[in-house]
Amino acid sequence: MQNAMLSQRLLAGVIAVFAITTASVAAMAQSSLTNQGGDQTAKEIERYRQALGDGNPAELWEARGEDLWKQKRGPKNVSLEQCDLGLGAGMVKGAYTVLPKHFEDSGKVEDLESRLVTCMVMLQGFSYIEAKKNPFGGPDNKSSMEALVAYIAGASRGLKMNVSGKQPDEKRYYELGKKMFFHRGGTHDFSCSTCHGASGQRIRLQDLPNLLKQDQAQRAYTTWPAYRVSQGETRSFQWRLYDCFRQQRFPELEFTSEASIALTMFLAKNANGGVMNAPAIKR
Ligand code: HEC
Repeated sequence: MQNAMLSQRLLAGVIAVFAITTASVAAMAQSSLTNQGGDQTAKEIERYRQALGDGNPAELWEARGEDLWKQKRGPKNVSLEQCDLGLGAGMVKGAYTVLPKHFEDSGKVEDLESRLVTCMVMLQGFSYIEAKKNPFGGPDNKSSMEALVAYIAGASRGLKMNVSGKQPDEKRYYELGKKMFFHRGGTHDFSCSTCHGASGQRIRLQDLPNLLKQDQAQRAYTTWPAYRVSQGETRSFQWRLYDCFRQQRFPELEFTSEASIALTMFLAKNANGGVMNAPAIKR
């Protein structure tokens, strides 16, 4: 019932968003025709983002994630409610701000996604393969992982990023992530820092955040997960990394791999002090 009302409210929002999209695209076309330059386009995109902020379809993912969190599932038929996400068993609020983190029980540094996989295995009795399949949804395929991530990240809204990074393995992951950020390779000889290591760069009308600048790193990290209007999906930070690997022409980034957790550690810790504002809404 609650979900039905939510859907109706969001439908109205989506229709409004569609109208704005059409108007913005026309305005962008106009600005490039009249050759008013990039600043005009950047302003249009910003205006469009603000307009979208009013109603966020990601609320549907958050609601589904909360249901999944509380639902008895898996061979052991238990919920995830006793999962320790870093602040103690069952604590959801604020958990996103302290991740990635080293966990005693698994002996590993885990980000939210890999931690959820661990809990699905340890508490619910899923196999590891089963727990980590289907990390990103599509039109005919809803991902439980993306919904859980939206719910848990949403429960940290308004709280400051506060990744410790002091434990030896956490330090090692941070350094590894940093190394990966600057590592050049692939057919284009790109690194993350080729696109995200200088200010004012742009690719196909999109501003590329300089992830080495604290304010931009904070803004980037604290606004994921996000509902992507262009895809009609709520995407996690892991999806963002996966897609940038693709843009970089690197081999596929394996979900919950050490590499993905290390990069997340580097970017999350650099965002410390930034206030969580996710799920956000993006182009
Ligand atoms: C070929 C250029 C390119 C490379 C290389 C690249 N990215 Fe990206 N990145 C993009 C684009 C384009 C976007 C989307 C910007 C937008 O939608 O506004 C993006 C977005 C992001 C964002 C989200 C920013 C935000 O504010 O939402 C993060 C985080 C990110 N990239 C991290 C990385 C990491 C880590 C690497 C290295 C593994 C990397 N990127 C490599 C082009 C690149």
